[in-house]
Order: sequence, then C-alpha cells, then structure tokens
Amino acid sequence: MELLEAIRSRRSIHEYKEEQVDQEVLERIFAESAWAPNHRMKEPWQIRLYQDKGKEAYAQVVMESYQRQGFFDGYDEEKTKRLQEGIREFLLNIPHHALIYMERDEDIRKYEEDYAAVCAYIQNVQLLAWKAGVGVLWTTSPYLHDEQFSEAIGFDSQRFKLVSVLQMGYPKRIPNPKVRTPIHQKLHLYDGNEKS
Ligand SMILES: Cc1cc2nc3c(=O)[nH]c(=O)nc-3n(C[C@H](O)[C@H](O)[C@H](O)COP(=O)(O)O)c2cc1C
Repeated sequence: MELLEAIRSRRSIHEYKEEQVDQEVLERIFAESAWAPNHRMKEPWQIRLYQDKGKEAYAQVVMESYQRQGFFDGYDEEKTKRLQEGIREFLLNIPHHALIYMERDEDIRKYEEDYAAVCAYIQNVQLLAWKAGVGVLWTTSPYLHDEQFSEAIGFDSQRFKLVSVLQMGYPKRIPNPKVRTPIHQKLHLYDGNEKS
C-alpha cells in the first residue's frame, strides 16, 4: 500500500469483527511504529494491551469511572443496570484495547516533546495497522483523566500520563471519509510578497 493511499484511506473504526488479531501481527505493528520521531531518543510510549479475559477487569474499572462521573445519574436501578450491561458488552466485543501511556517529565517542554512523540507513534500504529487490514479507533475518553481510574489499574497518576486507548480489531464496517478542508484555507505563505 502506497503511503498516500494509506493516509487517505485509513478510517477510524467503530465496529469490529469478533476475530482476534494475531499476537505476532500486533507486536509487529507496535514494534515498527517505534520508528516515530522522538526527542532525545526517549521513546516515551508504553503499551498495555487488554485482550481475552483481561478485558473483564478493564471494562469494570471503566464502568466505575463512568459511574463516578455521573454518567448514570438520574436513571433508576433497572435502567442503570441495562446501560452498564450495554457498555460492558460493547467494550468486551472489541477484540483489543491498547492503553498507550507515558511517564510524565517534570519539565513541561520535555513533557510536550514526549506527548508529541507518543502521538506520532500512535499515528504510525494506525497506519501500519491499516496496511495489515486492522482497524483502530484512537480514543481519549474522560476516564483517562480520572485519577481513581489510573489508580484502579495500578498507575500512579502523578507519575504516568494515560494518553489514549486504541481500540483494535478487524473492521466490520468502514465509515465514509469525512472531507478535509482545502489546504489553501490553512496554509499561510510568508515569502516576502504578503500584504502588510
Ligand atoms: C487525539 C484524538 C482523540 C480522539 N478521540 C476519539 C474518541 O474519544 N472517540 C472517537 O470516536 N473518536 C476519537 N478520535 C477519532 C476522530 O474522531 C477521527 O479521527 C475523526 O473523526 C476523523 O475520522 P477518520 O479518522 O476516519 O478520518 C480521536 C482522534 C484523535 C486524534
């Protein structure tokens, strides 16, 4: 697959087939993505991959975070139970959840460099996965900012920044592309001929 074709055709995937992606394929994607640029060669990305039975505990702490954030407020017990079961099923039906995290540098400039490098890494994951027929959804759900969620999955939130959870699996449905803005609306040339 050509680079431009991969960039243009990749879509965020919301619906997945049941089938698991081979561990080897996933490992290759995560390994090759490390060619992302990163300042000081810190390679700041870390990955925790929830899959198989590991998804159960993950879904449970996600649910508890939603509850703390008032997601179920105002619903009676039965409706709350149904909503929770729906979310749980939804999460368990996604074959892989890759939590991407990094250590927080106390120096804000270095923190930003590390965050940028992790985002470059994530885009590499998205493109390499796409080339392998694997769909990804880059998510930044509110629980990633919930300290109690961090603690519940064993992270000291002062020390680690949870960047994203990448949902991964073979796409059941590929959404239509969303149009992009023509670049002349965003590219501002300063070549000495601009009007002051
Ligand atoms: C930092 C970041 C966070 C995102 N978080 C979410 C998310 O929480 N939920 C979601 O459905 N999509 C999320 N997306 C995916 C975007 O919605 C998606 O890229 C956009 O709609 C364009 O669609 P495309 O990727 O198919 O071109 C996120 C993307 C980025 C870069």
